[in-house]
Amino acid sequence: MNTLMRIALLAGVLSCGFGGVGLAAPKPMAIDNAALSNEANGVNWAAYGRTFSEQHFSPLKQINADNVSRLGLAWSLDLPDVNFSTTAPLAVDGVIYFSPGISEVRAVDAKSGKQLWRYDPEVAKFAPQKLRAGWGSRGLAFWEGKVYLGSRDGRLIALNAKTGKPVWSVMTVEPDDHRYITGAPRVFNGKVIIGHGGADVGATRGYVTAYDAKTGKQLWRFFTVPGDPAKGFEDKAQEMAAKTWKGEWWKLGGGGTVWNAMTYDPQFNRIYLGTGNGAPWNQKIRSPGGGDNLFLCAIVALNADTGEYVWHYQTNPGETWDYNSAMDIVLADVMIDSKPRQVIVHAPKNGFFYVIDRATGKLISAEKFTKVTWAERIDMSTGRPVEIPNARYEAGETLIWPGMIGGHNMQPMSYNPDTGLVYLPTTELPGYYNDKGINTATWKYPKELGWDVGINDVNEDTPMNIGGSALQAWDPVKQKSVWSVPTPGLMNGGTITTAGNLVFQGQIDGKFIAYAADTGKRLWSFDASNAVLAPPITFSVGKKQYVSVITGNSGAPSVLGTPQAQYGWQARINARRLLTFVLDGKGQMSASAAPAQIVPLDDPQFIVDAVLADKGKAIFMEKYCVSCHGFGAVAAGSAPDLRASALALSAPAFEQVVRAGILQSKGMPRFAELSDADLNSLIHYLRSRARESLAAAKAK
Ligand code: HEC
Repeated sequence: MNTLMRIALLAGVLSCGFGGVGLAAPKPMAIDNAALSNEANGVNWAAYGRTFSEQHFSPLKQINADNVSRLGLAWSLDLPDVNFSTTAPLAVDGVIYFSPGISEVRAVDAKSGKQLWRYDPEVAKFAPQKLRAGWGSRGLAFWEGKVYLGSRDGRLIALNAKTGKPVWSVMTVEPDDHRYITGAPRVFNGKVIIGHGGADVGATRGYVTAYDAKTGKQLWRFFTVPGDPAKGFEDKAQEMAAKTWKGEWWKLGGGGTVWNAMTYDPQFNRIYLGTGNGAPWNQKIRSPGGGDNLFLCAIVALNADTGEYVWHYQTNPGETWDYNSAMDIVLADVMIDSKPRQVIVHAPKNGFFYVIDRATGKLISAEKFTKVTWAERIDMSTGRPVEIPNARYEAGETLIWPGMIGGHNMQPMSYNPDTGLVYLPTTELPGYYNDKGINTATWKYPKELGWDVGINDVNEDTPMNIGGSALQAWDPVKQKSVWSVPTPGLMNGGTITTAGNLVFQGQIDGKFIAYAADTGKRLWSFDASNAVLAPPITFSVGKKQYVSVITGNSGAPSVLGTPQAQYGWQARINARRLLTFVLDGKGQMSASAAPAQIVPLDDPQFIVDAVLADKGKAIFMEKYCVSCHGFGAVAAGSAPDLRASALALSAPAFEQVVRAGILQSKGMPRFAELSDADLNSLIHYLRSRARESLAAAKAK
């Protein structure tokens, strides 16, 4: 929508008496297609990206670039015993809904911060093995009085928004498969849609399923990669896709999971899916001999009523690097060569910023937004990347930018129709790829749920000066950065932008910052006493505009070792909180522990066996310890740093925690399959890491 249209709509909204800040208290508003298409009414933030466009843009401007220096805390709510907190809240009619921990849902009064209800889906009872992924839920959906949650174990649950009581619940996956849910469901046309993750941990074939939002009845399912041809294809798209695969890919799952981005386009009545990496990553194993491997790393457009395929655009044909296209898909109406164009803007992991025609799926432009070496450019005549020699580690190891963390990951970007700019959190970090010593013909997944992607994993602490991060304001029409500010560490929070000429972003160093959207000038910052990595929201209640954000580290930003851990936030010590801000707010947080550097523990009596330590290092990676406790066992606040754990000094205590699972209710999963020898190897690995870290600190 252009600015004029928005002003016209806003005038309409104001005259019918609700919506604008500074007017009479809003009547409760039905959250339906009309509400989620309405860019002009900023009272609620009722969907992950606020509206269908996923712009993460609010038309509110009571808080603006001129007065944001007066922004202060309205209230703060501590979230004890919550180990995942990088989640985006919703705000509907003065109530904030959010999903901390392992797929919990809480409702809080937005004015007072008082908790109204809490719902725990008790994931551990349903599928304890699915507690192993180191990330929580990224968000929720709302539709006509119900809150929708995708739970870690794969259920889609509709809750009564007033009471928090379940209305219906369906299992969207197989209880014993590798699929799990961390993404936000989306609702449109009375249908709720959900995908899943799991393409890094086993033979997983991706799909999305749409259900009736009222009843939970299944309406349609679309698979993102083809299955076994001998069993017949589910639809024509599968048949087309199967021609781009080789070997017996279905035995390995194929991947292409839709774990994050799904965008409904009311203009065309389509749903766009952002698909993920291959399972396993290494194409030589997955589809020996190559092929494009549709629909991995692509945007796929479906008819939103039937789930039928309409078009696709693949960012990485024959993906082999974990270059997901699961990063957010944002709708925008822009002028290109003096013509209005309805476009998708998309910045996937591979480091190119794509502008795609929504009507046809045709590429309009693609440029590098961060350091990119795997490809020279995107060929505009074919829409395909021009890869460099050995990008596919076909002739041995390769170091390329970006790596598996991506130039942009799941932290949402935002688009401001007033400035015409996209606010994009970016990372610059290479990836080291090789499959030396792996027999690609006989490779198999591990038996239990565990990390194995068909290349040699790097489980090392990340060197301090290997990369960096930035907040960039990107012009999607000119395809260039308009302003850019360096940000701390390697990965920071998602962004929102407002009609008050503001951009909000949280950082790993504990700062929550407001910038001028047009210039990038830093206007305001708040010390949150913990990392701020979740996307914020803004909304209004009565006459006041509020901004809310959740603090604490988890997920991808917490695994990256010292560059992220250097800020000293510690699990169990630094409180995670829901913070809410208002102009002239005078609220206080509970007392906060100062950040502190980890001091590894040593046991001088312990003799490290290098062979066992190496084995332990492999187990630490494969068993997913790394996803919560960090690369090289350097934790950045998601879970305790095991180099400093007294528990890890005692074999019986270690066994109780890791194999018997006595801390499962606190987010430490149970690994019943580990043998005594495995546990012993892990202990040797942790002792060797503690000693290496102590020696490195001394040498400084
Ligand atoms: C899904 C996230 C997750 C994974 C995966 C995970 N842990 Fe943990 N771990 C935690 C959390 C959270 C705690 C802290 C629980 C608490 O607050 O008591 C913890 C605590 C521990 C502790 C106790 C530390 C202390 O000093 O209290 C040990 C030891 C440990 N984990 C080892 C492991 C090992 C070994 C693995 C892999 C086999 C592993 N963890 C995998 C999340 C995880």
